[in-house]
Amino acid sequence: LMSLQVATVCGYLLGSIPFGLVLTRMAGLGDIRQIGSGNIGATNVLRTGRKGLAFLTLIGDAGKGAFAALLFTHLYGAEQGIFAGGAAVIGHMFPIWLRFKGGKGVATTLGTLAAVNWIMGLCAALTWLVMALIFRISSLSALIAMIAAPLAAFFIANDPGAGWLGVFLAVIVWLAHHANIKRLIRGEEPKIGQKKKQAD
Ligand code: G3P
Repeated sequence: LMSLQVATVCGYLLGSIPFGLVLTRMAGLGDIRQIGSGNIGATNVLRTGRKGLAFLTLIGDAGKGAFAALLFTHLYGAEQGIFAGGAAVIGHMFPIWLRFKGGKGVATTLGTLAAVNWIMGLCAALTWLVMALIFRISSLSALIAMIAAPLAAFFIANDPGAGWLGVFLAVIVWLAHHANIKRLIRGEEPKIGQKKKQAD
């Protein structure tokens, strides 16, 4: 009975490790929250010009979601894995270490989705990639990928449990992108790797 609570708390703590902040600080780049969009994710780390660090941020942030989901699926079962992965995304967005001001949850969501249902994760990641190749805007690619994920889970993978996790994560990732959505509507959202951007 306690396993859901344990999975949720541990998932939250794993998710709250801010890889982008830690890696950029270790590299001597200062506080990533003072750079570009101010976000702690891989997209903003790329604005420092350090592709390797951005890639490691992506792997770390996606990996913590995937690890949380896989670990608690293995320990207790599928439902606990879903709670741990969902909580990891919450942890990334609202980390206790950063006064609950974290990232936007895209990489951690992709890692979690892939671990919970690989078809859903693959469809979301491919959608992100194709949209990024077409539009060259990270936030727009993420917003579209978040819609593709639950659709893939419900209609391709026939996995409603994964699908409802996908719906939940899509809603919170969209909410976390409110400032990006405003910029997209105004046509002011920068392209991937482009540095000029107001802090949000
Ligand atoms: O992963 C977050 C991305 O979708 C947007 O990041 O830094 O452009 O706000 P950023």
